[in-house]
Amino acid sequence: MSSTSAAPGLAVVTGASSGIGRALARGLAARGHPLLLVARRWQRLEALAVELRARHRVDVEVWPCDLADGEQVARLGEELRSRHVAVFCNNAGFTTCGAVSEADPAREAEAVAVNVTAVHGLALAALPGMLQRGRGAILVTGSAAGEQPVPSAATYAATKAFVNAFAQALSVELRGTNVTCTLLAPGPVRTEFFAVGGVGRMEALTRWFSWQAPERVAEDALRAMERGRRIVIPGPAAKLQAFAGRHTPRALLFPLLRAVFLPIVRFSGARSHVRAWPPSPATSSRFVASEREVDDQASLRG
Ligand SMILES: NC(=O)c1ccc[n+]([C@@H]2O[C@H](COP(=O)([O-])OP(=O)(O)OC[C@H]3O[C@@H](n4cnc5c(N)ncnc54)[C@H](OP(=O)(O)O)[C@@H]3O)[C@@H](O)[C@H]2O)c1
Repeated sequence: MSSTSAAPGLAVVTGASSGIGRALARGLAARGHPLLLVARRWQRLEALAVELRARHRVDVEVWPCDLADGEQVARLGEELRSRHVAVFCNNAGFTTCGAVSEADPAREAEAVAVNVTAVHGLALAALPGMLQRGRGAILVTGSAAGEQPVPSAATYAATKAFVNAFAQALSVELRGTNVTCTLLAPGPVRTEFFAVGGVGRMEALTRWFSWQAPERVAEDALRAMERGRRIVIPGPAAKLQAFAGRHTPRALLFPLLRAVFLPIVRFSGARSHVRAWPPSPATSSRFVASEREVDDQASLRG
């Protein structure tokens, strides 16, 4: 797949206000792509746009959008249909943590809307134009967590199972079209992801695991996308995680997750949100985003 490197066309990145998406945007700007940056926190997008215009002399547009909102996703989809999109990084997403039975149903539904419905709808919006022009690349951020059911992140892992399957099937369907779809399936990456999921101490408790920098993940992803690869799993630890998730017999996997992962999730929550596991009807295991993150988002809404 050489179309993206030959003449850098418009690159759209969802979830560009933070973490992997921001690193993807920086990597694409360094390659000379004009950009359309999508997320809710538009001040962050504006700041990134200023940085990238100055550093790489590329055009950068900002598109504030709540991808949990069907109307806003539809408007973004119309925009994708009307533009010559060369690269579409379908990346925004978040996790919830804790027992589904005690979760906020609205927040769980939001995860499905952002991680599944928006990803699916926007890929289908970008695709026809790419096929018509005979060039284009879609990068979809799934997760190594999508390779097995994950108790305590049940909704998230299920949404990523959808994304992992969808992106790879699309990749195979597109063979021979000069349009590609690449699945990015990372393991743990140092971003705001775990704080947003209410398990901000996860990294501190799992230093033995190989955490990756978002810049490294993004660079691996963009190289794989430029080669038209079906899937990229950055780093040996994530590869091992994905392999084990796929191939470990469930009779072994679930007791293992119960013994190792559930306590980590429990103790990764903010102190005031640590709950007994398994949760009793009297307790709530729904973790909330860190105060910093809540404040950040509240101020941006206001
Ligand atoms: N970090 C990891 O360990 C890890 C591992 C595997 C997969 N992933 C996946 O990588 C992707 C990026 O996550 P990250 O690690 O970079 O986390 P992050 O730092 O929290 O970034 C998440 C991005 O998604 C955007 N987003 C979330 N909800 C949104 C909404 N309703 N509307 C629009 N944008 C929304 C956020 O923007 P706003 O808040 O400004 O809207 C932010 O830009 C996600 O799909 C995640 O599932 C992450």
